[in-house]
Amino acid sequence: MKVTIQRSDRLQSYEVPVLAESMTVMNVLDYIYQNLDHTLAYYRHSSCCQAACGRCVVNVDGVPVLACAKEVPPETVELLLTPARGRVIRDLVVER
Ligand code: FES
Repeated sequence: MKVTIQRSDRLQSYEVPVLAESMTVMNVLDYIYQNLDHTLAYYRHSSCCQAACGRCVVNVDGVPVLACAKEVPPETVELLLTPARGRVIRDLVVER
């Protein structure tokens, strides 16, 4: 799938394989960070990742979601990820 992310100064697109039947937005971001672009900034709370802390909010196609909880349907072709409302620190990291 084509994943386009609002970086601090531009839109950037990545090709991400559908790795599993159930993949979350966080899995997509982790894949990009680990395999394609180590400079991508996003919020990851490794001891949470269970929709508890509420800090991993990003907009998916304009709709705010918890990245660690929002599943990406396997048939998804394109995804647009933009920062949630708040002061953007860098890429998808915001201060709310
Ligand atoms: S990482 Fe805590 S809610 Fe997503």
